[in-house]
This record gives sequence, C-alpha cells and structure tokens, in this order.
Amino acid sequence: FSLKPYNTFGMDVKARLFARFDTVPELQELLQMPELEQEPKLILGGGSNLLLTKDFDGVVLLNGIKGIEKVREDQEHVYLQVGGGEVWHDFVLKTLDLNLGGVENLSLIPGTVGAAPLQNIGAYGVELKDVFEQLEAVSINSGQIKSFTADACRFGYRESVFKNELKGQYIVTHVTFRLQKKHKLNTSYGAISTTLQEMQVQQPTIQHVSAAVCQIRRSKLPDPKQIGNAGSFFKNPEIPLAQYEDLQKQHPDIPSYPVSETTVKVPAGWLIEQCGWKGKMLGNYGVHKNQALVLVNYGGAKGEQIRQLAYDVIQSVEEKFGIKLSPEVNII
Ligand code: EPU
Repeated sequence: FSLKPYNTFGMDVKARLFARFDTVPELQELLQMPELEQEPKLILGGGSNLLLTKDFDGVVLLNGIKGIEKVREDQEHVYLQVGGGEVWHDFVLKTLDLNLGGVENLSLIPGTVGAAPLQNIGAYGVELKDVFEQLEAVSINSGQIKSFTADACRFGYRESVFKNELKGQYIVTHVTFRLQKKHKLNTSYGAISTTLQEMQVQQPTIQHVSAAVCQIRRSKLPDPKQIGNAGSFFKNPEIPLAQYEDLQKQHPDIPSYPVSETTVKVPAGWLIEQCGWKGKMLGNYGVHKNQALVLVNYGGAKGEQIRQLAYDVIQSVEEKFGIKLSPEVNII
C-alpha cells in the first residue's frame, strides 16, 4: 500500500497493512483484531510532520474522525470539540466563520487536529496550548478512552507527553478548544503588524490577522502540494545566555528571542543560512530558498537522502557555532 499521498514530503514508501477509522468504536475494533494486535502501528493524520525513510513493516492507521461540535459555552468562551481527522486549517476557517478568536495566528498550518497537540503546534506568537481545553485519546494497548487536561499533556515548545513518556501509546480522537467570544488579538510578531499595515487595516479583526498570516506563510513556506516538505525540519535551539554572548563577539548580528533570564532561543534558519545551505539544491532535493529551516523534496527524492542532508546540516551548524540542532520532524 503506497503511502505517497499520505505524507507531505511525498515519500514513495509502502506500508504492509493500512486501515482507516472514522469513529472511536471502529478504532477500538481495529485495535482488538487478533491479526493486528502484534503489528507495529503508525498513526497518520495529515502526514505533515513526518519523514518516511523506508517501507513500514506493520499497519498504518489513518485517523478519519470528523466533526466540529459546540460542547459548552460560558461568558467569555465557546468550547468546540473537534474530530482528530479534521484538517487543521478547515477548523481554523470554521472558527473565523463563527467569529471565535484564538487560532487565527495558526492559520494554514498543514496537518490534522488530532496531530496538532502531539507537537503543540505554534506560529506567530501563539501555540495550541493557549487555546487547548482537553483531549480524548484511545490507548493502543487497552482500547480504553482517556481524557487529558493541558497539564497532563505537558506541553512545551513543539513538545508534549505524547512525543516523550507516552510515545506511541495513544491515538488522539478528539480535541476540545477554548475559543474567545471577545477576541484577544496577538499581533506582537513583527511580520504580522507589517503585513496588516501593507493591507491598510487600521482595526484588525481575527479575519484580518488570519489573512495576514496566510500571506506571510505563502511567501516564505513552500506549499506541500507543489514541493514536498514538512515545514520546519529543525527546532529553534535554546542556548545559555553566556554562550549567546560569546557567539555575539564573532557574529554581532546573530538574532535571538528571550526564553528566560539565563537562556535565549536562536532561529535555526539563521544558523543554517550562515552555513551556506539556504537555497542549496542537491539534484531533486535540498534546502528551501526562502526559509532555510525547511528541507524540500522537488520530486522523487528518497527519505534517506533527506535524512543525510539533515545530518550534514546539523554537523555544519555544530562545527561553525557549537550548537546542536535537533529535528522537529518525526523520522521513521
Ligand atoms: N532566518 C534567517 N534565514 C532563514 C530563515 C530565518 O536568517 O532562512 C531568521 C531571521 O532572522 C528571521 C528569523 O530567523 O527573522 C525567524 O524566521 P521566521 O519568522 O521564518 O520563523 P522561524 O523561527 O524560522 C518558527 C517556527 C515556524 C513558524 C514561524 C513563525 C519553529 C521550528 N518554527 O520559524 O513553524 O511558522 O516561527 O512563528 O519554531 C513549523 O513548525 O513547521 C513552522 C513552520
């Protein structure tokens, strides 16, 4: 079974078995099937944060659970419960339709709602955890449904308990979001305010912010429908302030964002660009020309080649800056 249509890198690998579930009982039934019990399992959402390097000798389970439902409302918020198989951006569009605030900065992020909590997706000053209420997940071992609060998810920068202690143990079936009736816009990110000015918007709405974010993303990030990619391939590294100040002596223009009193985050895109990788093409794959953090497959590249490129990038950044980048994408 070809997985090519199911991963945004466009890797042409195969899975021995493939099944799709559209409801929780269907998923539970699949998990109980004796022929699948012992099989390694790969859970797929939009396949947008994944680098497949070889055929998968097991069963791929595709989350097809749909639906966006209002479950609760209080004075300030509306709570929407969303099926894990919904496309993330479709959900964002729905909140704009309903005029509910909170996820407009997260417009156009590829992938599905069920995959979003795993890496606490984020962009332009907002992270999923800011609007997260709870999620339901099914245990792969027992088939039982379990609810997770934000605390239980242990969200961090592109991190959650599901990438760490509970890796490979749960399938997220539904996520409940807490959305604002009275909007709190976040236009702190420079590019957003500049774009809003260019759009000549004086009093921005959530719809304007979403339009600005879509414009910025379209200008910098390759559309996976045209060029295979998985967004940022690496995380932005956090380093001690002392190390940053040392680096500043040799590289006065090195950018940073404060994280705490003793640590800063350095944009990996800048580090990679400084090592000469930006726009580099190695045949049918390479480093994106507008955003050095994104590795791209122009068509027909192998996952192994992209993985090697990632290692080479990591190595040259480490040699030049003494900073070790770690992949953000899940390499399988
Ligand atoms: N930069 C360069 N060269 C590049 C790219 C970036 O010098 O080729 C420097 C510039 O100084 C720029 C700064 O990096 O000002 C920040 O760049 P950008 O605004 O593009 O953001 P980023 O830090 O590279 C992160 C997220 C993106 C998210 C944007 C906007 C990570 C790993 N990536 O990228 O998320 O959209 O901020 O908030 O944190 C993703 O996770 O897949 C993703 C695309």
